[in-house]
Formats: sequence, C-alpha cells, structure tokens
Amino acid sequence: MPPDIHAVNEYTLNEVTNNQSSVSTRMTVKEYKRIGEGAFGTVVEAVLKYADGTDVHSEWLGPFAIKRVPAQTEYKSRELEILRLVNHPNIVSLRFYFDKASSSSHDKTIYQNLVMECLPSNLQSEIKYYRQSKYTIPYPHMKAYTFQLARAMLYLHGFGISHRDIKPSNILVDPSTVVLKVCDFGSAKKLEPNQPSVSYICSRYYRAPELIVGCSLYSTKIDIWGLGCVVAEMFLGKPIFQGQSPESQLKEISKLLGPPPNTFFFKSNPQYRGNMYTTKLFSCTVEERFRQIFSNSPPDAIDLLLKILVYDPDMRASPRRVLVHPFFNELKKKEFQVYPRGSSEPIQLNLFNFSEFELSLLGSLKDELLAR
Ligand SMILES: Nc1ncnc2c1ncn2[C@@H]1O[C@H](COP(=O)(O)OP(=O)(O)OP(=O)(O)O)[C@@H](O)[C@H]1O
Ligand SMILES: [Mg+2]
Repeated sequence: MPPDIHAVNEYTLNEVTNNQSSVSTRMTVKEYKRIGEGAFGTVVEAVLKYADGTDVHSEWLGPFAIKRVPAQTEYKSRELEILRLVNHPNIVSLRFYFDKASSSSHDKTIYQNLVMECLPSNLQSEIKYYRQSKYTIPYPHMKAYTFQLARAMLYLHGFGISHRDIKPSNILVDPSTVVLKVCDFGSAKKLEPNQPSVSYICSRYYRAPELIVGCSLYSTKIDIWGLGCVVAEMFLGKPIFQGQSPESQLKEISKLLGPPPNTFFFKSNPQYRGNMYTTKLFSCTVEERFRQIFSNSPPDAIDLLLKILVYDPDMRASPRRVLVHPFFNELKKKEFQVYPRGSSEPIQLNLFNFSEFELSLLGSLKDELLAR
C-alpha cells in the first residue's frame, strides 16, 4: 500500500464486474486519495481485492482510479458503453465497474463507479509544471505525446466515436514513461451520418469554430481542432484561444486565422445570427501570423498547426494525415529515445505497435508511416 494514506474508506460489495470477463464477484474496495474533482463527479485512487472466499485472489490489485458519477436512470451510460468497447494503448482502460448507493443517509442517489488504470499526471499539470519553471515540455516529449493523441483519435474515429471534450486535463500522461492515454468519455458519442447532435459540447477554449456558430451536423473533426489547441498550448504554455464568452471565442480564433469566410457560416449553420467578426485584425498573411504567434516553435510544428487549425472541418487534417506529418519523423528513427523528467537514463518508446484495425484505417498511408 502507498504510505500516504488519508481518510481511508473501505467497503465490500457483492457485485463488482470485471470488464474483461464480464463476470461479477464480491470485492473489497479501499479508497485512500482524492485525485480529481470534475463537473460531474469525483475521482479517487483505490485498490481492490477479491472477497469471494477464495484465497488465491487475496492480493490487493491496483492502484486504480475510480470515477464516480450519478448513475443514469433513463438511458444507458455512454461513458461505460464506450469504455467497454475500446481497447487501445492510448486510451485509458476500464478494469472493473459497479453501482453503489451514496454512503450518506440523506442522499439516496445511486452512483456509477468506473475502475480504471491510474496514471500519475495529466497534460494540464505537465504544461503548468514546465511553465512555472519558464520552460516548455521538451520537444521530443511533445512529439511523442502528440503522436499518441493522434493515434487515439485514429482509433476512436475509426468507430465513428467523437470524444467531444478534448483538453489537457482529459489527457492523462505518465512523465516517467512518456505514455499518453485519453480519459473522460463523459461527453463522447458515436456520431451517425445526418443525425444531429448538440453543439454545446467541448470546453470553451477548445471548441471548434463550427460548434461556436451552432453547427449540429458536425463530425469527429471537432476532436482534431481540440488536438490542435492542445499542441499549441504545449508550445505556448497557455491556452491559445482564451475567449471571455462563448461568442468572443470566435474572435480569438480570428486573431490567428483571419475572419471566417462567409461559406463557413453557411455550411456550419445558415441560421447563425451572431457576430461574424468580418474585420481582419492583422495585416500579414495567415502563414506569417502563425510564425509571429509561434515565434519560438520549429517550422515543422507550425506547418502541422497550419493544417489542423482550419475553419472548414473538411479541410482540417484527419488523424492519419496528422500521423504521417514530418513533425514526427524524429520518432521513426531507430535511435530515437527520450529522457523522462529528472532522469539521466534515456528510454525507448513503443509508438508504432499498430494493430490490424489501425493499419486498415491508415489505408494507403500505412507504408509512409511505417517507412523507417
Ligand atoms: N484513470 C485516471 N488516472 C489518473 N487520474 C485520473 C484518471 N481519470 C481521471 N483522472 C483525474 O481526474 C480528473 C477528472 O476526471 P474526468 O475528467 O474523467 O472527470 P469529469 O468529472 O468529467 O471532469 P471534467 O468535468 O473536469 O472534465 C482528470 O482531469 C484527471 O486529472
Ligand atoms: Mg474531465
């Protein structure tokens, strides 16, 4: 057990379901640390052990992260459904799940508990850590993180699933292994062609322009916009588009991309009646503007961002296009290695262990990506 145990909460439940086998058994849960407090729930660190009377299973398993949210009564939880479906090295894995009534006598709510693998940090904390010491995340780490994020998106989008809340705090990382895993599927949804979805999703700074103007037939490309914002934030140390209101978020974007074209409004939402920010706020070209804003960033990173931060979602890079971008060439070199934070021992990363499913999604770009 970790030594820093505070306010331990231990309980035994009759039905804890193992995600892999779908078998429910009696298990003891020991919670010892709060690690996250979100808009919808709480995340605690915990260990679990089998309590079905068989000695073989008496070891504590974990540590895990348990996310607790009020259980849905009317419809099935999309978060559980999606986490049960996915299996990818860059997506947080679900190990167990259970329902449990609140321990408070006044509160009759049933809570859904998702027991996931636990990672020590997230990108928001990492960006903040480096900013405080006036640095950015080292470039090789940024490349490795971005590549893994794009891989998670290739996979998710391959199922038609959009995460719909890409932002640094929903991206878990382990700085000692430079492994990245996307978490928080509380907003995720499988998007069906020609089926409208709500446009008021994603956190403000990371919302794609089509969502800001109220588009309801959007695509998984909204996640790619979020990826672009996350990459920009790793380079700048702070969110790139910090709108003070939902609408002025579009103004912040226009300060980098120029005014949105008229066709953009028509294509996204012909009913949009808000401010169109038609005045150009800089005199140079968009490419020059990117070079001004990202003045300390390498040219290949700027070129990648120019292909991602694009108004028209159809023109915005797809996950497979992101993965083959020259920004990642360094990762392909046989001798590529990274130094984890605070370590003088370099490590090698396993970034190219693509599954058959991923290779099929890469299609004609497969050879380009695997040429080393
Ligand atoms: N598997 C995990 N391992 C480690 N930390 C985690 C894990 N899952 C979540 N966390 C931490 O808990 C925080 C909240 O989790 P999550 O984003 O899933 O909840 P949420 O309530 O939907 O949050 P929000 O509304 O802020 O987006 C995350 O930002 C992360 O720091
Ligand atoms: Mg979250």
